[in-house]
Amino acid sequence: MRTPLIIGNWKMHKTVAEAVAYVTAFLPRVAQVTDVEIGIAPVFTALSSVATAAKGSTLRVLAQDVATEGPTGAFTGEVAAEMLREVGCYGVIVGHSERRRYYGETDAIVAAKVRRTLDAQLLPVACVGETLDEREAGTALTVVERQLRAIAGTLTPDEAPRIVLAYEPVWAIGTGRAATPEVAQAMHRHLRATWEECFDAPAAAALRILYGGSVTADNIAAFTSLPDVDGALVGGASLAPDGFAQLIQRSQVASA
Ligand code: PGA
Repeated sequence: MRTPLIIGNWKMHKTVAEAVAYVTAFLPRVAQVTDVEIGIAPVFTALSSVATAAKGSTLRVLAQDVATEGPTGAFTGEVAAEMLREVGCYGVIVGHSERRRYYGETDAIVAAKVRRTLDAQLLPVACVGETLDEREAGTALTVVERQLRAIAGTLTPDEAPRIVLAYEPVWAIGTGRAATPEVAQAMHRHLRATWEECFDAPAAAALRILYGGSVTADNIAAFTSLPDVDGALVGGASLAPDGFAQLIQRSQVASA
């Protein structure tokens, strides 16, 4: 069975002090949650302190990005996957649409980052998703499939179980306009079918695919109750510990 995974993507929010205070407030609120894997992705500067604050709990700490190169080298401003592991990271969000859009990350760059993440024994949470123009042009499935195949192409069959996917339609991120459950389910099913073509049926059945884009405590259950949705990548609604804990609890009710 696929264990649901819910990750809070904090983006460029929270100082180190704020991030640690969050973890202190958040952990007791999710202490009773045992059947959902929970992660948070703070900014680079807070990773070490957050990992220390989360020690002894099941909370996973993820980075929001990683260098395409490593483990060391002349790459000013970059942070290697091994360095993220050293400070206590469990995984990395790779290829978020904000990285693709504002920082020019291509499919090839995203694939290289997935590769580096796996080489450092961390979990890549690889993001795919179409823009509004692409959806309106009727190319959503082909665009997202192209993004997925670029990621799959970097993996050996043995590595297929070591990655999580996130479907995040760009038009749904931060807009308050989440995908409908029908749209999400159709895309997730297509992604799983494509994964089966790239690998095999057991790999497709084991693949966790998260939905992301305006997920809230009010709509989480509509997503986690879908057959091909295995959790969520949550931006705005993960920024307050109370609200994120409530969102996680409501996801559980849906999947129970
Ligand atoms: P949102 O962001 O939940 O604020 O829409 C999701 C994401 O970008 O991962």
